[in-house]
Amino acid sequence: MPLNPSTDQIDLSTSEADDGFSEADEGAANDAPARHRSKTARTSHHGGLEAVGVIYGNVGTLRFNMVITAPLEKMEFVQVRHKIHGFVLGQVSEIERKTNLTTDGVKSMRHGAPVEIEEKEIATVSIVGYRDDRNLLQAPRTPLLAGEEVYRAQEELIKDVVGIKEHTDTGAYVGLLSGHDVRVELDINLLVQKHVCILSKTGGGKSYCSGALIEEFMKQKVTVCVIDPHGEYSSMRKKGSIKKTHRDFHIKPRGYADKILEFATDTNLNKHAHPLKFTLHNLDARDILGLTNTKNVRSYLTMLRRAIDTLRDTKENFSIADIIAVLEANNEQSSGALITELEYLNEIEVFAEQGTKIDELIQKGKTTIINLRGTPPDMQELIVNRIGNALFELRKVGKIPPMMLVVEEAHNFCPQQGQVACSKVFRTVASEGRKFGLGLLVISQRPAKVDKNVLSQCNTQIILKVNNPNDIKAIASSIEGLTEGMEEEIQRLPIGTAIVTGGGVSMPLFVDIRPRESQHGGESVEIVPHKRM
Ligand SMILES: Nc1ncnc2c1ncn2[C@@H]1O[C@H](COP(=O)(O)OP(=O)(O)O)[C@@H](O)[C@H]1O
Ligand SMILES: [Mg+2]
Repeated sequence: MPLNPSTDQIDLSTSEADDGFSEADEGAANDAPARHRSKTARTSHHGGLEAVGVIYGNVGTLRFNMVITAPLEKMEFVQVRHKIHGFVLGQVSEIERKTNLTTDGVKSMRHGAPVEIEEKEIATVSIVGYRDDRNLLQAPRTPLLAGEEVYRAQEELIKDVVGIKEHTDTGAYVGLLSGHDVRVELDINLLVQKHVCILSKTGGGKSYCSGALIEEFMKQKVTVCVIDPHGEYSSMRKKGSIKKTHRDFHIKPRGYADKILEFATDTNLNKHAHPLKFTLHNLDARDILGLTNTKNVRSYLTMLRRAIDTLRDTKENFSIADIIAVLEANNEQSSGALITELEYLNEIEVFAEQGTKIDELIQKGKTTIINLRGTPPDMQELIVNRIGNALFELRKVGKIPPMMLVVEEAHNFCPQQGQVACSKVFRTVASEGRKFGLGLLVISQRPAKVDKNVLSQCNTQIILKVNNPNDIKAIASSIEGLTEGMEEEIQRLPIGTAIVTGGGVSMPLFVDIRPRESQHGGESVEIVPHKRM
C-alpha cells in the first residue's frame, strides 16, 4: 500500500495542473506498479507511432505537461495530434519524477519498515509547431487536448518542422540530432554569408568541431584560411582513428594532405610548413617599434624614421637587415640599443624583401593554415592584420575566391577590451565580409572577451559546454531564440554535444558532433602520462 496520507505528504500535482492530474494519472500512468515504471512501461504502437505519454492538466498553446508512459529523455522531440492542424511537434524541456515519499516515510525506511513509494514521471513539453500549407512554421493558436496521446516524434516530422535537409549539395554535415537519427547539415552558403562562431570552455571541443567543419569545407571545395596560433591544424593532413561510439555517424577516416597548404612564421619549429614572409612596405617607424620590446618609443622614433626614409629613396623593398645597416652606417649616438631591438625582430625572420605572394598563400578549394606557433603575440596580431586586410581587399575586387576565414583564440585577435593591431579588420570583415563572400568562423573559450561587434554578427552559433557565468551571459545576449532552460543546459552539455542555432535551421538544436575523419591535433598534453592498461 502507498504511504498513509499524512500532513506532510508531497503534493503530486503541479501548480499549473492541480485539477487535471488525477484523471491522466489513473488512465495512463498508474496501471503499472508505480516503482520502476520507466523500465516496465508498456510501449504502445499506433500505426508506426510509439506512444510515450498522455497530456494532462491545464494545457497552454506554448507548452503542456504529460505523464510519461515510455522511456523519454529531456530534449527529445514528441508529436501530438491537433484537431485542426494535424501533428504538431514538441520538445521535452523538463522531466520531473514526482513521488509521494515523505520525510516520515524516509524515517520509517531508516528503521527498516517497508515503504511503498508511489511515483510518476512528468514531462513539460514546449510546442515547436507545424508547417502550414505554405510551408511556413506556425504555432497552433488553440491548445492541444488533455488526454491526447503523445508520440515519439517521427524523423520526417522533425525534419519537416525544424527545417533540416539531409544530403544536400551545399550542406556541411556537423553531426546527428541528439536522440534522433537525423543528420544536421548547415548550409555552407549561409555560413560564408552570415558568419559562424564556435564557443565553449577550454577542452569543450571547439577545435575538434571546427576541424569537422573544415573537413566539410574541403569536401565541398570551399577555400579556407585558418589562423592557427597553436599549430593544431596541420594534423588534418593525416587520417584519424575513429573510436567506437554508441552512435553510428557513418564517417570513414581519411587525411586531407592534398587539400592543405601550411605556412608558418617559424619554420624551425614547424618544419613541414612554407615560410611566411612579409615586406616592410606599409609599415612605418612607429609600427616597427611597436613590435619590439622597447618602452622608449619616442627616443628612437626620429632615428628610425630617418633610416627608413633613406632606404625608401633608394629601394622599394627593404628588410630589417637593411635598416640595421643604415643605422650602423649613420653611427648615431645611442643607436646601439635600437639596433639590438631590431636584431631581435630580424631573428623572427618574418620580414623580407620578397613577401609571400597571395596566390601562393590562398588557392581555390584549398585550406591554408597560418601556423603561428612560436611567434610572439604582438607579431601574431600584426601578421593576422596583414592577412585579414589582404583577404578583404582582394576579395572585394574578386582576386581571390569566396572563402572562409577561421580564427582560433578570437578573444586575442578581436578583443572586447583594448585595441590590438587586427581589431579593426575583424570588425570590418564581420560587418562587410558577407557582401563580398568573405565568411568568418570565430572560435573562442572566452566569449565575454570577444568584441561584441564581431560576435553579434555570427548568425550561426555552435555552443559547446560553457561554465563561466560571464561567458554564458555573453552567449545568451548574442543568440536569438535561446531560452532560459537552454542557458542551464549549456553548462551541462556532455563533451561532443553542441547547441546549434542558425545555418538554415529554424530553432536551436542539440547536436552530437560527428567524429573527425582526419587527425585532431589539439589533444591535451598529459603532464603525468596515463598508465596504459
Ligand atoms: N565531438 C567529439 N567527439 C569525440 N571527442 C571529442 C569531441 N569533441 C571533443 N572531443 C575530445 O575533447 C578533447 C578537447 O577538444 P578540443 O576541441 O581540443 O577542445 P577546445 O575546445 O579546447 O578546442 C579532444 O582532444 C577530444 O579528445
Ligand atoms: Mg582548441
